[in-house]
Amino acid sequence: MVEALDQTSNADLALPSIPLGYAIRMADLRVKERRAAVIRDCSTVTPEYECKWDALCRTDGSLDFDAMDEVVAFAEAHRMGLHGHTLCWHRSIPRRFLDVDPERFRAAATAYLSNVVRRYQGAMLSWHVVNEPLQITDGYDDGLRVSPYLSALGADYIHKMFRLVRTLDPQALLVLNEMGLEYDSPAAEQKRQLMLALLQRLMSEDVPIDCLGLQSHLNARDFLSGNHRNFARWLQEIKSLGLSIEVTELDVDDRDLEGDVEARDETVARVYLEYVEMVKTNARLSGVTLWGVSDEGSWLNTSGSRLAARPLALDAYLMRKPAWFVLQASSRQV
Ligand code: G3I
Repeated sequence: MVEALDQTSNADLALPSIPLGYAIRMADLRVKERRAAVIRDCSTVTPEYECKWDALCRTDGSLDFDAMDEVVAFAEAHRMGLHGHTLCWHRSIPRRFLDVDPERFRAAATAYLSNVVRRYQGAMLSWHVVNEPLQITDGYDDGLRVSPYLSALGADYIHKMFRLVRTLDPQALLVLNEMGLEYDSPAAEQKRQLMLALLQRLMSEDVPIDCLGLQSHLNARDFLSGNHRNFARWLQEIKSLGLSIEVTELDVDDRDLEGDVEARDETVARVYLEYVEMVKTNARLSGVTLWGVSDEGSWLNTSGSRLAARPLALDAYLMRKPAWFVLQASSRQV
Protein backbone atom coordinates (compact mmCIF):
# COMPACT_ATOMS: atom_id res chain seq x y z
CA MET A 1 0.00 0.00 0.00
CA VAL A 2 1.50 3.31 -0.99
CA GLU A 3 1.40 5.78 1.86
CA ALA A 4 -1.05 8.53 1.10
CA LEU A 5 1.40 11.10 -0.12
CA ASP A 6 0.62 14.41 1.46
CA GLN A 7 0.94 17.05 -1.20
CA THR A 8 3.19 19.12 0.99
CA SER A 9 5.86 20.49 -1.25
CA ASN A 10 9.05 22.17 -0.28
CA ALA A 11 7.33 25.49 -0.76
CA ASP A 12 4.97 24.61 2.12
CA LEU A 13 7.56 23.04 4.41
CA ALA A 14 10.12 25.39 5.87
CA LEU A 15 12.70 25.24 3.10
CA PRO A 16 15.66 23.15 4.35
CA SER A 17 18.81 25.19 4.95
CA ILE A 18 20.77 22.46 3.19
CA PRO A 19 19.28 21.48 -0.19
CA LEU A 20 18.19 17.83 -0.20
CA GLY A 21 17.74 15.78 -3.33
CA TYR A 22 17.51 12.37 -4.92
CA ALA A 23 19.19 10.82 -7.93
CA ILE A 24 16.32 10.19 -10.33
CA ARG A 25 15.76 8.19 -13.48
CA MET A 26 13.39 9.21 -16.23
CA ALA A 27 11.35 6.12 -15.30
CA ASP A 28 10.74 7.68 -11.85
CA LEU A 29 9.04 10.63 -13.52
CA ARG A 30 6.64 8.34 -15.37
CA VAL A 31 5.10 6.89 -12.15
CA LYS A 32 2.66 9.28 -10.45
CA GLU A 33 3.49 8.28 -6.87
CA ARG A 34 7.27 8.37 -7.44
CA ARG A 35 7.00 11.76 -9.14
CA ALA A 36 4.96 13.07 -6.22
CA ALA A 37 7.51 11.80 -3.70
CA VAL A 38 10.34 13.56 -5.56
CA ILE A 39 8.33 16.81 -5.67
CA ARG A 40 7.58 16.54 -1.96
CA ASP A 41 11.10 15.67 -0.83
CA CYS A 42 13.56 17.34 -3.21
CA SER A 43 14.86 20.82 -3.81
CA THR A 44 17.52 19.35 -6.12
CA VAL A 45 17.69 16.35 -8.45
CA THR A 46 20.56 14.48 -10.10
CA PRO A 47 20.05 12.37 -13.26
CA GLU A 48 21.33 8.94 -12.24
CA TYR A 49 22.10 8.03 -15.85
CA GLU A 50 20.44 10.35 -18.41
CA CYS A 51 23.24 12.95 -18.67
CA LYS A 52 26.11 10.49 -19.01
CA TRP A 53 27.98 10.19 -22.31
CA ASP A 54 26.98 6.54 -22.85
CA ALA A 55 23.35 7.38 -22.07
CA LEU A 56 23.18 10.20 -24.64
CA CYS A 57 25.34 8.60 -27.34
CA ARG A 58 23.59 6.90 -30.25
CA THR A 59 25.30 4.05 -32.09
CA ASP A 60 26.47 6.51 -34.78
CA GLY A 61 28.09 8.72 -32.13
CA SER A 62 25.49 11.49 -32.30
CA LEU A 63 23.77 12.65 -29.11
CA ASP A 64 20.12 12.03 -28.16
CA PHE A 65 18.99 14.57 -25.56
CA ASP A 66 15.33 13.52 -25.27
CA ALA A 67 15.60 11.79 -21.87
CA MET A 68 17.80 14.50 -20.35
CA ASP A 69 15.52 17.21 -21.74
CA GLU A 70 12.65 15.55 -19.87
CA VAL A 71 14.62 15.52 -16.62
CA VAL A 72 15.59 19.19 -17.06
CA ALA A 73 12.01 20.21 -17.87
CA PHE A 74 10.74 18.44 -14.74
CA ALA A 75 13.35 20.14 -12.53
CA GLU A 76 12.62 23.55 -14.01
CA ALA A 77 8.86 23.08 -13.69
CA HIS A 78 9.27 22.34 -9.97
CA ARG A 79 11.97 24.93 -9.30
CA MET A 80 14.53 22.28 -8.41
CA GLY A 81 18.29 22.67 -8.66
CA LEU A 82 19.94 20.28 -11.12
CA HIS A 83 23.28 18.53 -10.70
CA GLY A 84 24.83 17.64 -14.07
CA HIS A 85 26.21 14.14 -13.46
CA THR A 86 28.78 13.50 -14.90
CA LEU A 87 30.81 14.94 -17.76
CA CYS A 88 34.07 12.93 -17.54
CA TRP A 89 33.91 9.40 -16.13
CA HIS A 90 35.89 6.38 -17.27
CA ARG A 91 32.80 4.16 -16.81
CA SER A 92 30.47 6.17 -19.03
CA ILE A 93 32.53 6.27 -22.23
CA PRO A 94 30.45 4.87 -25.12
CA ARG A 95 31.80 1.56 -26.41
CA ARG A 96 32.56 3.10 -29.85
CA PHE A 97 35.07 5.51 -28.28
CA LEU A 98 36.84 3.06 -25.96
CA ASP A 99 39.56 1.85 -28.32
CA VAL A 100 40.09 4.83 -30.61
CA ASP A 101 43.26 6.87 -31.09
CA PRO A 102 43.86 9.61 -28.51
CA GLU A 103 43.01 12.46 -30.92
CA ARG A 104 39.69 10.87 -31.88
CA PHE A 105 38.87 10.30 -28.20
CA ARG A 106 39.82 13.85 -27.28
CA ALA A 107 37.62 15.28 -30.04
CA ALA A 108 34.65 13.06 -29.15
CA ALA A 109 34.89 13.58 -25.38
CA THR A 110 35.23 17.35 -25.81
CA ALA A 111 32.33 17.44 -28.28
CA TYR A 112 30.03 15.53 -25.89
CA LEU A 113 30.97 17.78 -22.96
CA SER A 114 30.65 21.01 -24.95
CA ASN A 115 27.31 20.02 -26.50
CA VAL A 116 25.80 19.02 -23.14
CA VAL A 117 27.04 22.06 -21.23
CA ARG A 118 25.98 24.47 -23.98
CA ARG A 119 22.50 22.87 -24.17
CA TYR A 120 21.85 23.09 -20.45
CA GLN A 121 23.88 26.20 -19.71
CA GLY A 122 22.07 28.24 -17.08
CA ALA A 123 19.79 25.35 -16.05
CA MET A 124 22.37 23.58 -13.90
CA LEU A 125 23.06 24.31 -10.23
CA SER A 126 26.30 22.32 -10.58
CA TRP A 127 28.27 20.19 -13.00
CA HIS A 128 30.11 17.06 -11.87
CA VAL A 129 32.94 17.86 -14.27
CA VAL A 130 35.21 14.91 -13.42
CA ASN A 131 34.14 11.77 -11.56
CA GLU A 132 36.51 9.38 -9.75
CA PRO A 133 39.87 10.77 -10.95
CA LEU A 134 41.90 8.79 -8.39
CA GLN A 135 42.93 5.14 -8.49
CA ILE A 136 45.91 4.53 -6.21
CA THR A 137 46.57 1.03 -7.56
CA ASP A 138 47.24 2.49 -11.03
CA GLY A 139 50.66 3.40 -9.69
CA TYR A 140 50.99 7.13 -10.37
CA ASP A 141 52.61 9.11 -7.51
CA ASP A 142 49.74 11.60 -7.55
CA GLY A 143 47.21 8.75 -7.52
CA LEU A 144 45.61 9.71 -10.84
CA ARG A 145 43.56 6.96 -12.47
CA VAL A 146 44.86 5.66 -15.79
CA SER A 147 41.93 6.40 -18.11
CA PRO A 148 41.34 7.42 -21.74
CA TYR A 149 40.97 10.97 -20.43
CA LEU A 150 44.48 10.92 -18.95
CA SER A 151 45.96 9.21 -22.02
CA ALA A 152 44.28 11.44 -24.59
CA LEU A 153 44.24 14.83 -22.87
CA GLY A 154 47.34 14.55 -20.68
CA ALA A 155 48.08 14.75 -16.95
CA ASP A 156 46.34 18.14 -16.86
CA TYR A 157 43.03 16.87 -18.28
CA ILE A 158 41.24 17.88 -15.10
CA HIS A 159 42.55 21.46 -15.47
CA LYS A 160 41.43 21.54 -19.11
CA MET A 161 37.93 20.17 -18.51
CA PHE A 162 37.17 22.46 -15.56
CA ARG A 163 38.36 25.52 -17.51
CA LEU A 164 36.26 24.51 -20.52
CA VAL A 165 33.09 24.04 -18.46
CA ARG A 166 33.61 27.36 -16.64
CA THR A 167 33.91 29.10 -20.01
CA LEU A 168 30.74 27.44 -21.32
CA ASP A 169 28.66 27.84 -18.14
CA PRO A 170 30.04 30.59 -15.89
CA GLN A 171 27.14 30.42 -13.39
CA ALA A 172 27.23 26.74 -12.44
CA LEU A 173 29.18 25.37 -9.48
CA LEU A 174 31.96 23.07 -10.69
CA VAL A 175 32.41 19.84 -8.75
CA LEU A 176 35.17 17.24 -8.59
CA ASN A 177 33.38 14.04 -7.49
CA GLU A 178 35.06 11.06 -5.80
CA MET A 179 34.20 7.86 -3.97
CA GLY A 180 35.85 6.13 -1.02
CA LEU A 181 37.06 9.22 0.83
CA GLU A 182 34.73 8.76 3.81
CA TYR A 183 35.95 5.51 5.33
CA ASP A 184 38.06 4.70 8.38
CA SER A 185 40.80 2.73 6.63
CA PRO A 186 44.47 3.20 5.64
CA ALA A 187 43.45 3.14 1.95
CA ALA A 188 40.84 5.86 2.47
CA GLU A 189 43.30 7.97 4.45
CA GLN A 190 45.86 7.66 1.64
CA LYS A 191 43.19 8.61 -0.90
CA ARG A 192 42.15 11.61 1.23
CA GLN A 193 45.73 12.88 1.27
CA LEU A 194 46.11 12.39 -2.48
CA MET A 195 42.81 14.22 -3.06
CA LEU A 196 43.92 17.08 -0.80
CA ALA A 197 47.20 17.37 -2.73
CA LEU A 198 45.32 17.29 -6.06
CA LEU A 199 42.93 20.03 -4.92
CA GLN A 200 45.81 22.16 -3.63
CA ARG A 201 47.55 21.75 -7.00
CA LEU A 202 44.43 22.61 -8.98
CA MET A 203 43.72 25.69 -6.89
CA SER A 204 47.36 26.87 -6.99
CA GLU A 205 47.07 26.75 -10.79
CA ASP A 206 43.82 28.76 -10.75
CA VAL A 207 41.63 25.89 -11.96
CA PRO A 208 38.01 27.04 -11.48
CA ILE A 209 36.75 24.45 -8.97
CA ASP A 210 34.08 25.27 -6.39
CA CYS A 211 33.24 22.06 -4.63
CA LEU A 212 34.41 18.58 -3.75
CA GLY A 213 31.72 15.94 -4.19
CA LEU A 214 31.82 13.09 -1.68
CA GLN A 215 29.87 10.20 -3.16
CA SER A 216 29.27 8.82 0.37
CA HIS A 217 28.30 5.22 -0.37
CA LEU A 218 28.44 4.12 3.27
CA ASN A 219 28.33 0.71 4.95
CA ALA A 220 26.32 0.88 8.17
CA ARG A 221 28.36 -1.61 10.19
CA ASP A 222 31.73 -0.20 9.10
CA PHE A 223 30.63 3.39 9.73
CA LEU A 224 29.35 2.72 13.23
CA SER A 225 32.45 0.75 14.20
CA GLY A 226 34.84 3.29 12.68
CA ASN A 227 36.84 6.16 14.12
CA HIS A 228 36.20 9.26 12.01
CA ARG A 229 38.74 11.68 13.52
CA ASN A 230 40.97 11.59 10.42
CA PHE A 231 37.98 12.19 8.12
CA ALA A 232 36.77 15.11 10.25
CA ARG A 233 40.23 16.67 10.35
CA TRP A 234 40.55 16.26 6.56
CA LEU A 235 37.16 17.94 6.03
CA GLN A 236 38.49 20.93 7.95
CA GLU A 237 41.49 21.06 5.59
CA ILE A 238 39.16 21.04 2.56
CA LYS A 239 37.19 23.86 4.18
CA SER A 240 40.40 25.85 4.70
CA LEU A 241 41.01 25.63 0.95
CA GLY A 242 37.76 27.55 0.48
CA LEU A 243 35.94 24.62 -1.13
CA SER A 244 32.43 23.51 -0.19
CA ILE A 245 31.44 19.87 0.16
CA GLU A 246 28.50 18.33 -1.71
CA VAL A 247 27.33 14.91 -0.51
CA THR A 248 26.52 13.63 -3.98
CA GLU A 249 25.46 9.95 -3.83
CA LEU A 250 24.53 9.13 -0.23
CA ASP A 251 23.24 5.70 0.63
CA VAL A 252 23.79 3.37 3.60
CA ASP A 253 24.25 -0.33 2.89
CA ASP A 254 22.53 -2.21 5.73
CA ARG A 255 23.11 -5.75 4.52
CA ASP A 256 25.83 -6.51 7.10
CA LEU A 257 23.52 -5.59 9.99
CA GLU A 258 21.82 -8.04 12.28
CA GLY A 259 18.17 -7.74 13.21
CA ASP A 260 14.83 -7.33 11.54
CA VAL A 261 13.86 -4.67 9.03
CA GLU A 262 12.71 -2.27 11.71
CA ALA A 263 16.03 -2.52 13.59
CA ARG A 264 18.04 -2.15 10.37
CA ASP A 265 16.04 0.91 9.34
CA GLU A 266 16.68 2.56 12.71
CA THR A 267 20.42 1.86 12.41
CA VAL A 268 20.49 3.27 8.87
CA ALA A 269 18.80 6.44 10.18
CA ARG A 270 21.47 6.74 12.87
CA VAL A 271 24.22 6.53 10.25
CA TYR A 272 22.49 9.18 8.13
CA LEU A 273 22.26 11.49 11.13
CA GLU A 274 25.82 10.98 12.36
CA TYR A 275 27.33 11.28 8.89
CA VAL A 276 25.46 14.43 7.81
CA GLU A 277 26.08 16.07 11.19
CA MET A 278 29.81 15.22 10.94
CA VAL A 279 30.07 16.84 7.50
CA LYS A 280 27.99 19.84 8.59
CA THR A 281 30.26 20.35 11.61
CA ASN A 282 33.57 20.11 9.77
CA ALA A 283 32.83 21.42 6.27
CA ARG A 284 30.81 23.99 4.35
CA LEU A 285 28.07 21.51 3.30
CA SER A 286 26.29 22.80 0.17
CA GLY A 287 23.82 19.94 -0.37
CA VAL A 288 22.93 16.31 0.17
CA THR A 289 21.73 13.95 -2.54
CA LEU A 290 20.57 10.39 -1.90
CA TRP A 291 21.50 7.97 -4.65
CA GLY A 292 17.99 6.96 -5.62
CA VAL A 293 14.32 7.54 -4.83
CA SER A 294 13.50 4.29 -3.00
CA ASP A 295 15.19 1.14 -1.75
CA GLU A 296 14.21 -1.33 -4.47
CA GLY A 297 15.62 0.92 -7.21
CA SER A 298 19.02 1.33 -5.56
CA TRP A 299 22.07 0.41 -7.60
CA LEU A 300 22.98 -1.79 -4.62
CA ASN A 301 20.04 -4.02 -5.52
CA THR A 302 21.00 -4.48 -9.18
CA SER A 303 23.76 -6.97 -8.46
CA GLY A 304 21.25 -9.70 -7.59
CA SER A 305 22.71 -10.18 -4.13
CA ARG A 306 20.90 -12.54 -1.80
CA LEU A 307 19.63 -9.88 0.59
CA ALA A 308 17.87 -6.73 -0.58
CA ALA A 309 19.54 -3.56 0.66
CA ARG A 310 17.43 -0.86 2.36
CA PRO A 311 19.89 2.05 1.85
CA LEU A 312 17.62 5.05 1.18
CA ALA A 313 14.98 7.22 2.86
CA LEU A 314 11.91 5.66 1.18
CA ASP A 315 11.10 1.96 1.02
CA ALA A 316 9.77 0.03 -1.97
CA TYR A 317 6.25 1.27 -1.19
CA LEU A 318 7.51 4.89 -0.95
CA MET A 319 6.83 4.78 2.78
CA ARG A 320 9.02 7.22 4.71
CA LYS A 321 11.60 5.39 6.82
CA PRO A 322 13.30 6.73 9.98
CA ALA A 323 16.14 7.99 7.74
CA TRP A 324 13.67 10.27 5.94
CA PHE A 325 12.72 12.07 9.13
CA VAL A 326 16.32 12.32 10.28
CA LEU A 327 17.37 13.88 6.97
CA GLN A 328 14.54 16.39 6.90
CA ALA A 329 15.37 17.49 10.46
CA SER A 330 19.13 17.52 9.97
CA SER A 331 18.91 19.54 6.75
CA ARG A 332 17.03 22.32 8.55
CA GLN A 333 19.61 23.07 11.20
CA VAL A 334 22.61 25.02 10.03
O1 G3I B 1 17.95 2.59 -19.38
C1 G3I B 1 18.70 1.58 -20.09
C2 G3I B 1 17.76 0.62 -20.76
O2 G3I B 1 17.00 1.31 -21.75
C3 G3I B 1 18.55 -0.52 -21.41
O3 G3I B 1 17.67 -1.46 -21.94
C4 G3I B 1 19.43 -1.16 -20.36
C5 G3I B 1 20.25 -2.26 -21.00
O4 G3I B 1 21.57 -2.21 -20.59
O5 G3I B 1 20.32 -0.18 -19.77
C6 G3I B 1 19.58 0.85 -19.11
O6 G3I B 1 20.50 1.78 -18.60
C7 G3I B 1 21.16 1.38 -17.39
C8 G3I B 1 21.02 2.56 -16.44
O7 G3I B 1 21.81 2.34 -15.25
C9 G3I B 1 19.54 2.72 -16.05
O8 G3I B 1 19.42 3.47 -14.98
C10 G3I B 1 22.62 1.14 -17.75
O9 G3I B 1 22.74 -0.05 -18.53
C11 G3I B 1 23.41 0.96 -16.45
O10 G3I B 1 24.79 0.87 -16.76
C12 G3I B 1 23.20 2.19 -15.56
O11 G3I B 1 23.89 1.95 -14.35
C13 G3I B 1 24.18 3.15 -13.60
C14 G3I B 1 25.70 3.19 -13.38
O12 G3I B 1 26.03 4.32 -12.53
C15 G3I B 1 26.44 3.33 -14.68
O13 G3I B 1 26.07 4.53 -15.32
C16 G3I B 1 23.46 3.04 -12.25
O14 G3I B 1 22.06 3.14 -12.46
C17 G3I B 1 23.92 4.17 -11.33
O15 G3I B 1 23.36 4.01 -10.02
C18 G3I B 1 25.45 4.18 -11.22
O16 G3I B 1 25.79 5.30 -10.44
C19 G3I B 1 27.19 5.47 -10.21
C20 G3I B 1 27.50 6.96 -10.31
O17 G3I B 1 27.15 7.44 -11.59
C21 G3I B 1 28.96 7.23 -9.98
N1 G3I B 1 29.28 6.71 -8.65
C22 G3I B 1 29.01 5.27 -8.50
C23 G3I B 1 27.53 5.00 -8.78
C24 G3I B 1 27.21 3.53 -8.56
O18 G3I B 1 27.89 2.76 -9.51
